Amino acid sequence: MIEREPLRRAFRELYGTAPRLFRAPGRVNLIGEHTDYNDGFVLPMAIERETLVAAATRPDRRVRVRSLNTGEDVEFDLEHPGPVRRGSWIDYVEGVAQALIRRGVSLRGADLLIFSNVPAGAGLSSSAALEISTGLALATLAGAEIDPVVLALAGQEAEHTYVGANVGIMDQFVVALGRAGHALLIDCRTLAATPVPLDTAGAAIVICDSNIKHDLASSEYNRRRAECEEGVALLRQFLPGIRALRDVSVADFERHAAALPEVIRRRCLHVVTENARTLAAAAALERGDLAGMGRLMGESHRSLRDDYEVSCAELDLLVEIAGQVGGCLGARMTGGGFGGSTINLVRRDALAEFQATVLREYPRVTNISPFVYVSEAGEGAKEVRDEE
Ligand code: GLA
Repeated sequence: MIEREPLRRAFRELYGTAPRLFRAPGRVNLIGEHTDYNDGFVLPMAIERETLVAAATRPDRRVRVRSLNTGEDVEFDLEHPGPVRRGSWIDYVEGVAQALIRRGVSLRGADLLIFSNVPAGAGLSSSAALEISTGLALATLAGAEIDPVVLALAGQEAEHTYVGANVGIMDQFVVALGRAGHALLIDCRTLAATPVPLDTAGAAIVICDSNIKHDLASSEYNRRRAECEEGVALLRQFLPGIRALRDVSVADFERHAAALPEVIRRRCLHVVTENARTLAAAAALERGDLAGMGRLMGESHRSLRDDYEVSCAELDLLVEIAGQVGGCLGARMTGGGFGGSTINLVRRDALAEFQATVLREYPRVTNISPFVYVSEAGEGAKEVRDEE
């Protein structure tokens, strides 16, 4: 947790008034990868790392923002939207502000001071944490009781318009609505979410950040989306009722798969089986079957690596190293892929061995130091009360 008082003090020194405080966490996805934009199921959790925003209104229609992470100041005008896709973090903040305005929230001018300990580029949704924390701050300062689902949709719209990333709803949703001690089983078509308790007494969620991000990430992401849409169009000849890969069962898919071009077939195979794995994983967690959960994570990784082809050598290596530790029940890449992090389910009595093995073996092959951290499932975005 980031200390609250130093940020309040820094705000008073910078802007001369007392702020209100808002927070939004990062997230990690347990399973259900590249299924959200196929109207499917995902099972992410909010993590404890967070973005903290100190904020106060100002009398005009401007929003001034300083980041304590980069030391930069940015400023924009609520009346006159600035250019999109500037490639700077202003895109996330102005993007969510404009998306809220389009949803009918009348924002007021504000001064913001931001500090985050969600690492950028690690696949832990530092961008969703920024969108949701600033969106919540701006909406609340304007007197609006913002529905967290609307806030999540505004964050996603910021990605589509201002950032230029055609993402699904998973990250913003769990960042806005995460529940401590739980993962969320999200139906990305209806946006209904079921909290799934995480019994972490026996095993912990461990994140390994590969410390690498390949440039391919966004172009390949958009290409995968298009390939899935092509799959749906082709499968519709045989399954006329389908709107998305979510509507295709594994059995239906197997009956018609041979009619698809090879690459499209493998992309669809991943999504269709990943949806089934995600529902099975939620059921495994519900009955406390951590070994079953771990096996599904392993299958998910192989499917992402071989069929969806969004892994990379460094992520595969982290998963392979994790497999050398007897007490690791399951490991997989998490998030969009092409770098970022893996997620591992590790028995508590094996945590020290797991950490030592990853910290020793990964740099031996790659010359890169990984980050390894245990994370409990944290809470979604909220205002931080004065006494907290
Ligand atoms: C990124 C996107 C999400 C989701 C994942 C892959 O994190 O932001 O919407 O598509 O990739 O599961």
